[in-house]
Amino acid sequence: MAERVGVLTGGGDCPGLNAVIRGIVRKSQKAYGYEIVGIRQGWRGLLDMDYELLTRDRISGILHRGGTILGTSRTNPFKIEGGPQKILDNFKKLKLSALIAIGGEDTLGVANKLVGQGLNAVGVPKTIDNDLDGTDFTFGFDTAVNIAMEAIDRVHTTAESHNRIIVVEVMGRHAGWIAMHSGIAGGADVILIPEKPFDIDAVCDVLNKRREGGRKFSIVVAAEGAKFKPSGRGEDALVTLEAEKDQFGHVRLGGIGNALAGEIEKRTGFETRAVVLGHIQRGGSPTAYDRVLATRFGVAAIDLVHEKRFGHMVALRGNDIVSIPIADAVAKLKTVPDEFYNVAEVFFG
Ligand code: F6P
Repeated sequence: MAERVGVLTGGGDCPGLNAVIRGIVRKSQKAYGYEIVGIRQGWRGLLDMDYELLTRDRISGILHRGGTILGTSRTNPFKIEGGPQKILDNFKKLKLSALIAIGGEDTLGVANKLVGQGLNAVGVPKTIDNDLDGTDFTFGFDTAVNIAMEAIDRVHTTAESHNRIIVVEVMGRHAGWIAMHSGIAGGADVILIPEKPFDIDAVCDVLNKRREGGRKFSIVVAAEGAKFKPSGRGEDALVTLEAEKDQFGHVRLGGIGNALAGEIEKRTGFETRAVVLGHIQRGGSPTAYDRVLATRFGVAAIDLVHEKRFGHMVALRGNDIVSIPIADAVAKLKTVPDEFYNVAEVFFG
């Protein structure tokens, strides 16, 4: 019987996941002859024994498709009684010799802990937020940035026609990478990110000065995790939609765009609108860049399995695909450095 390798996709979906899966299956068939077992709905599938064989036919025609053919969830086995042991038992029951976990900080954090308990796992970094440490970029990020940039371009013309301020809320829970890249590429007049809590009066000053200088419209790009400085609204306000947390302890963010639009209009008197891009940034086809990066990650991940480099994940460094310990990648988040923010700031106002 052929050796069997499992693969799962966990956390928020991300354009390029299917390209990774295809890369794993195709390289395996060409070079190693492993049978690839797709685990459905992230870690939940391994708890529930929900899986399917990934044949050549099954992965045909998926390269350009968004989402993940395996489905995904935010299930955390460490929050379920007996969860980790069940994962280890089911791994054996399925006669797997290794598991490839494709995910962000949460999914890979679980993989890392399970490696400590004897699971043969390797990782593939995934998140549109690009906040995973140890890799220059994650796939899905480029697609999200391009969608956000196009949206910023579009609101520019309507903001200009109506002499309005438009606040564009983009994703980015802990890090402002999408806001920074799409904001710079789209010519935003102010960019607000979680790394730099903002003073609402200072933001309004910038917008007022712009208007005094003859520019009657403005575009503000805000990451969903951007925070008002305590002095601004009487709280260090992370704007949330729900107080309830998921199994990884995250609250559901969203609402900063509308909160900001209200404050700006109240303080400046300028007509202001908010646009929330939300899951549009995660849906649909990946860009060429993401398809290529995801394909390289998939091929490299099955190579890592073959070399038995368990506890490692593939990563992009410069133009090269390398491998690093998963533990290093999940130790801290990769946030936007000051040098990069300073470049964006040149164009504020
Ligand atoms: O982590 C990726 C991400 O897209 C974040 O930017 C966002 O806060 C979150 O997922 C949204 O998650 P959900 O799919 O649960 O709404």
